[in-house]
Amino acid sequence: MNTLAGRDILSMADMTAAEIHALLDLARQYKRGHTTPTAQGRVLGLLFTKASTRTRVSFSVAMMRLGGQVLDLNPGTTQMGRGEPLCDTARVLDRYLDVLAIRTFAQADVVTFAEWAQMPVINALTDREHPCQVLADLLTVQESFGDLRGLKMAYLGDGNNVSHSLMLGCALVGITLTVATPPQHPPDRDILHQAQALAAAPSPITHTHDPEVAVQQAQVVYTDVWASMGQEAENQERIPRFQPYQVNEALLQKADPQAIVLHCLPAHRGEEITEAVLEGRQSRVWDQAENRLHAQQALLAQVLGLV
Ligand code: CP
Ligand code: NVA
Repeated sequence: MNTLAGRDILSMADMTAAEIHALLDLARQYKRGHTTPTAQGRVLGLLFTKASTRTRVSFSVAMMRLGGQVLDLNPGTTQMGRGEPLCDTARVLDRYLDVLAIRTFAQADVVTFAEWAQMPVINALTDREHPCQVLADLLTVQESFGDLRGLKMAYLGDGNNVSHSLMLGCALVGITLTVATPPQHPPDRDILHQAQALAAAPSPITHTHDPEVAVQQAQVVYTDVWASMGQEAENQERIPRFQPYQVNEALLQKADPQAIVLHCLPAHRGEEITEAVLEGRQSRVWDQAENRLHAQQALLAQVLGLV
């Protein structure tokens, strides 16, 4: 049964383990070419205040594959860019659209939209979380290993939005996750504690400063940029701090020999990941990027109540 109909997805923790598994099952069906009842006449709005390639295009194509339509709502060309309050914009868009995906800085802004709009609101990345990414990540891990429960994952780099959703997602599905960050850039303490509380006892979510500890026996090695959107000015001062967390061949050799490598992209070759690893035999990043499409098609079908 689809229990996501009409719901907002602002955090990975807005879904239960059963809901994530149902969504991944549907995503796999879509990937195999399965079709479901049409979203004809339904419109997805994309309200993005930050750049995006994968999320914007995969959401658009996913909605088109469902038979619906997409409106790209650039804040620079709407009254939002001139300061119209979010609560007013949300109530008006709610009269036109059927579902809204938002990419912005403050998590509070997507929460405000969700409070004022009845339609499902989806977090397409904030500074705090990136749940749509992690749905695709879990689909990719499933494709390599089947059962998610009991797998061991290492995340290396910045304690950022992707690391936060990954902690919550791994906790829910029973993946043991070790997040290794420089001391100056830990994940949010509240989200770490939330993930630890969600995790079943044998699948701990832990934080360390030691990249070698994190990758020991890891079957999945994950990284993301060292400076996220909005932090570009800090890039030069961050590089030396993050250097020990680079995913390179030497570090990867300390992981499980069958380990796969994930990166949400865009990647900075020579910073958080080397060219050799990104393009190497253990990399699954292109499948991972493709899976954004299938996972979000499933998410749209479910929140729209099509299935
Ligand atoms: N991974 C990801 O969200 O990519 P975009 O920023 O291109 O959407
Ligand atoms: N952490 C990155 C993810 C980009 C998809 C950022 O927020 O820029």
